[in-house]
Amino acid sequence: MTDWLYSLIPHLKAFHIVALAVWCAGLFALPLMLARHEPASGPGDYARIRRASHYTYTLVVTPAAVLAITSGTALIFLRELYVLWMFGKLAIVALLVFFHAWVGHVLVTVAETEGRHTPPEPTAPMLILLVPVVVILALVLGKPDLGRIPVPEWLTEPQGRQLLFDVPRR
Ligand code: HEM
Repeated sequence: MTDWLYSLIPHLKAFHIVALAVWCAGLFALPLMLARHEPASGPGDYARIRRASHYTYTLVVTPAAVLAITSGTALIFLRELYVLWMFGKLAIVALLVFFHAWVGHVLVTVAETEGRHTPPEPTAPMLILLVPVVVILALVLGKPDLGRIPVPEWLTEPQGRQLLFDVPRR
């Protein structure tokens, strides 16, 4: 790898950590904000919390998610981290993405759809969110040696069989 690409890694990692901190903080904050969507609080306050949750989701949390994922993906290639704990982390990040989409769905239903909708209690979603965040941090900070990716043996060695069609000879 060229030197300048290598020297980029610490900066990209710092950027990744800032982006994921904003993303995760936003995912914890949004259920709390959604729980405040109570029309009985008066039209002024209701409009304010609606605007705040809308802009937090669209202008802060979603861009932070995109930046955390793109910078993390770039880091995989720069650090050449093709190891099992990394793939485990990616699978668990998918749960965060699912949570992110669920929050967006609730936001649209509660704050941007006509009719009366009760927001969910925030405690259970926040506790559920804590699980993937803690597991991701444990994986990435502990970098456990989980061995090789489990694939069947026949996928790892040539079988010497004839293909179903002719291929040009070299
Ligand atoms: C698709 C999303 C993500 C990808 C592809 C990704 C990928 C990466 C990669 C390749 C590194 C460098 C690891 C190293 O240099 O050893 C890294 C660092 C890190 N990531 Fe992520 N990451 C993602 C999301 C997250 C999330 C959601 C969290 C936290 C909840 C997180 C927490 C961290 C931390 C704390 C580090 C610094 C670890 C260290 O330097 O020891 N990442 N990430």
